[in-house]
Amino acid sequence: MANQPMLLITIDGPAGAGKTTVSKMLARTLGYRYLDTGALYRAVAFGVRAAGVRPDDDRGLGDVCNTLRLSIEGDRLVLNGVDITHRIRSPEISMLASAVSARPVVRQALLSIQREMARTGGLVAEGRDMGTVVFPEADLKFFLDATTRQRAFRRFAQYEKGNGQTLEQIEQDIRRRDQNDSSRDIAPLRPADDAIKIDSTSMTPRQVVGSMMACVGPLRE
Ligand code: DC
Repeated sequence: MANQPMLLITIDGPAGAGKTTVSKMLARTLGYRYLDTGALYRAVAFGVRAAGVRPDDDRGLGDVCNTLRLSIEGDRLVLNGVDITHRIRSPEISMLASAVSARPVVRQALLSIQREMARTGGLVAEGRDMGTVVFPEADLKFFLDATTRQRAFRRFAQYEKGNGQTLEQIEQDIRRRDQNDSSRDIAPLRPADDAIKIDSTSMTPRQVVGSMMACVGPLRE
């Protein structure tokens, strides 16, 4: 709509809290763009594995980041000309993304890409450190959480077509990732002081988006 401010909205939270579904719905409702920053870390992990670099080899990580040609084309993520949209969604890449995301050299390399995307506003950005580090000046910040069991169950339902993991294995992976992501020294997973916290355990995505829209409304008047 004419003359409405184009807001920058951040949604942080742990794996399986529903960030992706909700961020996409919210972006669609508002007519905004959507940025999945987890996919960027997954793309780095993909490149790191392809190059045979260890996740604690900062020089190797730096080389991978410097040669990374990443582009987002609609819903597709393209790395050095190859469509990796689906290939970054494996349990192995999830764990590797969590490991490389703890390295300052990787976080620094992705910072400018993320900020560049927000230059024009009208963006819903999801991740772990959107409200705390990447966009501390965001207009509206949410922190979405749910119980570990519920988050594991959602991943299990998503994976139903089979990557072979049981619910218990998924829950264990999620606990390990939560531990990695929230205990690292740099940009750990945590709510920004001014974030609005939403527990999605017993909410549908539509209900979550409804409660977010109730917060967006006054900022657009
Ligand atoms: O959201 P996701 O599960 O696709 O993210 C994969 C990993 O990337 C996650 O375990 C931690 C890392 N990540 C991060 O450190 N910072 C972000 N803003 C987004 C993701």
